Amino acid sequence: MTRFVCSEKKQHILEVGAGAGAITKHLVKKSNVSLGTYIDVVEIYPFLAKILKRRFADAPGVHIHGLDILNFKSEHKYDLIICSLPFNSMFPEIVEPIIQQLLALAQPGALMSFFEFKILQSLGKPFLTKKQRESYLRTRSLIDGLLARYKFDECAVKYNIPPALVHYLRIN
Ligand SMILES: C[S@@+](CC[C@H](N)C(=O)[O-])C[C@H]1O[C@@H](n2cnc3c(N)ncnc32)[C@H](O)[C@@H]1O
Repeated sequence: MTRFVCSEKKQHILEVGAGAGAITKHLVKKSNVSLGTYIDVVEIYPFLAKILKRRFADAPGVHIHGLDILNFKSEHKYDLIICSLPFNSMFPEIVEPIIQQLLALAQPGALMSFFEFKILQSLGKPFLTKKQRESYLRTRSLIDGLLARYKFDECAVKYNIPPALVHYLRIN
């Protein structure tokens, strides 16, 4: 997820859905704030945002926002967007504006990474009602549309539990 974080240049980085900071920790380690790198971290749950604020209180250049990404406003556009939102389990009515928001926050040529748990997707499908299935397929087509337009690479993380697939996108 942090593959394109670079300690040799200034980057504006946006992390979306940071949880308790499992990825944030690596962003902080790999980036170089002395070059002016700026990391905005957005997490919707106040409880988790509070943990993040405590955990990264001493990390210069890291700004924690306890907000829904849909309500996040920034003066910056970002070179790098690292997104952990569980798109596959979200309603298409939410996924669509979130994708628009992420694209609007990206600099031309920005890189974005996000991951999916492939196995969980297939396991869940047989248990969906017709309405849930239709909703899931609409969400899926939004994700597939995003990937078809911008994806340039991926990385299978086999030894994650469950195995994950990281997508890399370039927002042209
Ligand atoms: C799958 S967890 C990932 C947590 C962490 N990045 C990790 O890898 O361990 C997804 C996170 O996204 C947050 N989230 C969900 N919807 C969000 C939204 N609309 N805006 C900001 N954060 C959101 C959840 O609260 C949760 O912490």
